[in-house]
Amino acid sequence: VTTRLISDPAVEDYAARHTTPPSQALIRVTTATHVAFSPQAGMIVGTVEGRLLALLVAVSGASRILEIGTFTGYSAIAMAEALPAGGKLTTLEIDPEHAAVATSLVEAAGVADRVEIVLGPAIESLRELEGPFDLVFIDADKPSYPDYFEAVVPLVRPGGLIVADNVLWSGQVLDESDDPSTAALRVFNHLVLHDPRVECAMLTIRDGVTLIRRIA
Ligand SMILES: C[S@@+](CC[C@H](N)C(=O)[O-])C[C@H]1O[C@@H](n2cnc3c(N)ncnc32)[C@H](O)[C@@H]1O
Repeated sequence: VTTRLISDPAVEDYAARHTTPPSQALIRVTTATHVAFSPQAGMIVGTVEGRLLALLVAVSGASRILEIGTFTGYSAIAMAEALPAGGKLTTLEIDPEHAAVATSLVEAAGVADRVEIVLGPAIESLRELEGPFDLVFIDADKPSYPDYFEAVVPLVRPGGLIVADNVLWSGQVLDESDDPSTAALRVFNHLVLHDPRVECAMLTIRDGVTLIRRIA
């Protein structure tokens, strides 16, 4: 399997240093995640993508947000901080340990009134949810991305936004692969591009982020 650098690490570092720094709450999430789940801490979206998500919430005026893949709550808190009064974010997580840490970090961030963490397999939780959502962030298990896309499009209001993380998968999507995550991400990227209900732009931020707007 060939992995590729999506951008020069020095350029990434420069971009991070020229992005509005994370809040104290988000710095706490990063520190706590490294303590609790050291090997997986890289799953956090981080400074640039976290700020991008917050900016998307702010400019779109989103007040109902759905997230698939909470981990320790970094992206959930980043988006919740940008919600207007009365806004709400629902985030889906399968791992009880991740959800427990996220719950305490969401409380410490002072956004517990706006954030609901739903424990369980996302595809099952999605069946119970009622739309419309203004913005959906997909960032859970990669083999399920095609299913998440099909489940989420009807839940997003027309004009609403779906944001999908890791769509470049360290550049592995450029090549055919038997790896289930790579194969599913290739299917997902193809589905999104050819679905007449949406328009999309794939950004080479971090591990690849596709912005998908429902147009029909
Ligand atoms: C990449 S991490 C999410 C990172 C998070 N968005 C952030 O920026 O901090 C993916 C999360 O999805 C969860 N996950 C994996 N499979 C899942 C499933 N089937 N349903 C719900 N969550 C799942 C994992 O336990 C993990 O916490």
